[in-house]
Amino acid sequence: MYTTFESPTQRAIALEERYGAHNYHPLPVVLSRGQGVYVWDVENKQYLDFLSAYSAVNQGHCHPAIIAALTEQAQRLTLTSRAFYSDKLGECEKYLAEYFGYDKALMMNSGVEGGETALKLTRKWAYKVKGIAADQAKTVFAAGNFWGRTLAAISASTDPDSRNEYGPFLPGYVIIPYNDLAALEETLAADPTIAGFMVEPIQGEAGVVVPDEGYLRGVRDLCTKYNVLFIADEVQTGLGRTGKRLACDHEGVRPDILVLGKALSGGVYPVSCVLADDDIMLTIRPGEHGSTYGGNPLACAVTMAALDVIRQEKLAENAERMGELFRRRMRELSQKSDLITLVRGKGLLNAIVINDTETSNTAWQVCLDLKNRGLLAKPTHGNKIRFAPPLVITEAQMEEACAMIEQAVLSK
Ligand SMILES: Cc1ncc(COP(=O)(O)O)c(C=O)c1O
Repeated sequence: MYTTFESPTQRAIALEERYGAHNYHPLPVVLSRGQGVYVWDVENKQYLDFLSAYSAVNQGHCHPAIIAALTEQAQRLTLTSRAFYSDKLGECEKYLAEYFGYDKALMMNSGVEGGETALKLTRKWAYKVKGIAADQAKTVFAAGNFWGRTLAAISASTDPDSRNEYGPFLPGYVIIPYNDLAALEETLAADPTIAGFMVEPIQGEAGVVVPDEGYLRGVRDLCTKYNVLFIADEVQTGLGRTGKRLACDHEGVRPDILVLGKALSGGVYPVSCVLADDDIMLTIRPGEHGSTYGGNPLACAVTMAALDVIRQEKLAENAERMGELFRRRMRELSQKSDLITLVRGKGLLNAIVINDTETSNTAWQVCLDLKNRGLLAKPTHGNKIRFAPPLVITEAQMEEACAMIEQAVLSK
């Protein structure tokens, strides 16, 4: 079926098209290798990766220290299940608890399982600690949220593409506008069956929507006032991405439940975790929650190495500096081009909003042009292009990337 005249790129795309489900619409580039901020396609063309697998590869592709931890552990022990103890899990839980300042950690695999675990903990806490009547607990979410693709996650979604034809949805959800403290207070004050408010400190998938300064502090205060758990979904914003260890650190707030994923493994393995103190974490007892792979020895070895890299290489500090440089260059560009209507972001989680219409598809065209120039980025929600390179990016690489973006935008 495949002729010898096809390029390796065409062949790989045709295979996915024919044998894979059509649940994604990738940029037409076929990657086979990565190192640091760079990836190479099957034709050996080099690109700057400005997506970082949606902020999973904060430490850069195939970071040698993380790969060393992975391969060393892979030759000793990979999976025990939680039927037995392992010599790595307790060590990693201690590492996580001390790194983020919580009593305990609960490890899962994907980000969405982290969110689901946080939700389950919230409900247990609602019944056992807050005293809400059985099966009455509600959780509040902000419109535009994204925390994954399971039914529990899309039940909270306001994006029609995520939800259409997947109903019926889970009950017990309340949706309020994002970045709206008045709406949060009104909701919490009106309903004593609310147990938690789960929120992204910056909405990544919605197009890097940064709330007003003081929003997180306000959320913290309101949750405390109404005895509601503040659940921070830092799966995308955490681990140095926004220029601090956590995005919540920008306002010095500590959520009651912290959800992490993605860069927890530096992109080499699916690892997520939930952090909380004993009054919340110990509401779940043996047999009430779990996962065969959650907290396996390989995940633990990789997680500790990946977190070490963030601290040792001062990646949050670099993200802060490189982000300033990026936004300055993009704001200058927006003075020269009507195509850019807005530049926003924090640290190295940034987006430009393109003056686009449903039919013109300009953001997609800009991304195709950037691919040809050697930079990979992807539009999100139509007219926004997210730029989120690995946090190991150097100033010279950032200047080079900005020049490519300038050329692509000015050529339109
Ligand atoms: C904020 C946030 N939470 C949760 C998730 C879900 O993570 P995963 O795709 O690993 O399930 C994502 C994924 O993009 C995310 O951005």
